[in-house]
Amino acid sequence: MMRFDAYLKSKNVDEHLIDVFRSLMHAVRDISRSMNVEDSGKVGSKNVFGEEQIALDVLADKIVYDYMRNNEFVGLIASEEGDGEEKIGDGAYAVCHDPLDGSSLVDVNLSVGTIVGIYKRETFIGAKGDEQVAAMAAVYGPTTTVLLTVRQGVVKFIMNDDGEFILAGEGYAVGEGKMFAPGNLRACESREDYLKLVNFWIKEQYTLRYSGGMVPDVNQIILKGKGIFAYPGYGDAPEGKLRLLFECAPMALLMEEAGGAASDGEKRILEKEILTVAQRTPIFIGSKEEVERCEKYL
Ligand code: F6P
Repeated sequence: MMRFDAYLKSKNVDEHLIDVFRSLMHAVRDISRSMNVEDSGKVGSKNVFGEEQIALDVLADKIVYDYMRNNEFVGLIASEEGDGEEKIGDGAYAVCHDPLDGSSLVDVNLSVGTIVGIYKRETFIGAKGDEQVAAMAAVYGPTTTVLLTVRQGVVKFIMNDDGEFILAGEGYAVGEGKMFAPGNLRACESREDYLKLVNFWIKEQYTLRYSGGMVPDVNQIILKGKGIFAYPGYGDAPEGKLRLLFECAPMALLMEEAGGAASDGEKRILEKEILTVAQRTPIFIGSKEEVERCEKYL
């Protein structure tokens, strides 16, 4: 039985970064526990993207913020629920996060997640996802799990009853297999190319595995070792919906570290420069062959 900090030590991870992860794991534990007791009704406020926030969005954001603020090794933070980046200290690490991705799924008891990307920078602006030193994605489902990378492959931890994160899997390798998660199907109305791609998957008898939450969908591809998640843009929103800094770059690092790929249709997600914290991007993420197919069709 190996705890996450012992795992990180065994990989010679910097002590300061291990401490940042300690704080992040405490945040995941607290968010997970609050899921069972907190009101999931809407609080009526909106985030900077104009989306309605629910009580848990606000709470999860506060939980991560408080842990990061109290960690001396974190100097910069940005949250999808916030309105920019904030210098919070002199620490070397910069943490960006989506505290509760897919939060509209909470009240119907579907899985949701927390996404985190970690850089060593003084500003996120001008960074590329490739500069991340680590990334993680927590899934709150029947169990609470965390996929984590320190750029030495991907490992999975499961939270036990004591709120400790125990190593539960490693050596993930995403290969080929017929499973698809086609997000933003509305785009098919005006995008013949996406319709053709979706038709390809259907005709080839791919298995549909789409939950409505990017974290559980991409988590599934990594754990099952096959598949593709797509979220293209169309019409007035050519860049789609998902954010480069908070969602796509950390998930792309996890996917690449598991042997898969992530592209915006033309370019690796990890090579895209972050121009604003709110920047969106189309994303095609999964096995290398599937991502290449998306690039070819679209
Ligand atoms: O906001 C992010 C998100 O909830 C993702 O987790 C999910 O993949 C996507 O939005 C679903 O978007 P839509 O409901 O517009 O299809």
